[in-house]
Amino acid sequence: MTAGRPLAQGTPLIQVRTRIDLLTELEPVAARELDRHLATAQEWFPHQYVPWSGARDFDGPIGGEPWRPCQSALTPAVRDALIVNVLTEDNLPSYHHEIAARFGRDSAWGTWVNRWTAEEGRHSDALRGYLHAVRGVDPVELERARMAHVGSGYDSGQPTLAHALAYVTVQELATREAHRNAGQACPEPHGTRLMSRIATDENLHMIFYRAVCADALDLAPDLMTRAFADVVCDFRMPGHSIPGFAGRAARIATAGIYDVALHHDRVLLPLLRALRLMERTDLGPAGEEARHRIGRYLEELADRIRRLQELRHRREQARRDAVPENGTRIGASREA
Ligand SMILES: [Fe+2]
Ligand SMILES: [Fe+2]
Repeated sequence: MTAGRPLAQGTPLIQVRTRIDLLTELEPVAARELDRHLATAQEWFPHQYVPWSGARDFDGPIGGEPWRPCQSALTPAVRDALIVNVLTEDNLPSYHHEIAARFGRDSAWGTWVNRWTAEEGRHSDALRGYLHAVRGVDPVELERARMAHVGSGYDSGQPTLAHALAYVTVQELATREAHRNAGQACPEPHGTRLMSRIATDENLHMIFYRAVCADALDLAPDLMTRAFADVVCDFRMPGHSIPGFAGRAARIATAGIYDVALHHDRVLLPLLRALRLMERTDLGPAGEEARHRIGRYLEELADRIRRLQELRHRREQARRDAVPENGTRIGASREA
């Protein structure tokens, strides 16, 4: 994206000028945050996080042992979480295309785009190596899902640079939580260590984007607040187009690895607080409307969380009531 590129026919001039100005105005911020990132990020090696000593050959050309479900020490919900996480990371070529098209290939923005891509490349590499080594998931199904997912590409659908910045900020924080919680739920210690390492990367990516957004909010408070309102009120994880995503997401939520309460408490609220987005005094009517929209959405979310917690509580109570004193659960076979 360069200032010299001719405008697409029918593109409103004011929209393009705002987008180009914001990118240019934010370039020193991107340079500052890139320097901070490079000084903070620690080098690490995916191969050092994979427990190779437990690995053995698979069937196929080598003639090893086929994968069987009983070989996996991972719980079903952790399996779902790791499948979603690795397939999400697999779509890196599309994400690179998205941010390169938005931020450009020049200046600090271009350096960030390439550095970010190089760091993200470690995540699918390490996760797949780990899953193969511990025989955590069906490797044939995983590869077929990767082909389908990467083959269909990814389009975030964010209409402006402001939206793209708001989206990646929320997304990096959500992804940090998804990796960290999957690691904490993982019954296998190498998995916990690897997921924690990846979550540290995602945290630094979030810090970069959050800092850029803080400056962007000062430069264009109404524009950025509207972008955040649009993104927050309609947020979807980047892996939402993974085959079978809805079912996996539901099981991940039931296991408490990533659910609506976590999204509200550990992603949206800390981010809005850090950006002081709900306390600004420099908003015009459009920014005020957007901020009210965020407020209403948070209230709706809190209400939904309360209802879900009540439902969960009633289910737990019913389950406890169904267990007689000798400990034999009535209908246990139906619940399995
Ligand atoms: Fe990642
Ligand atoms: Fe990231």
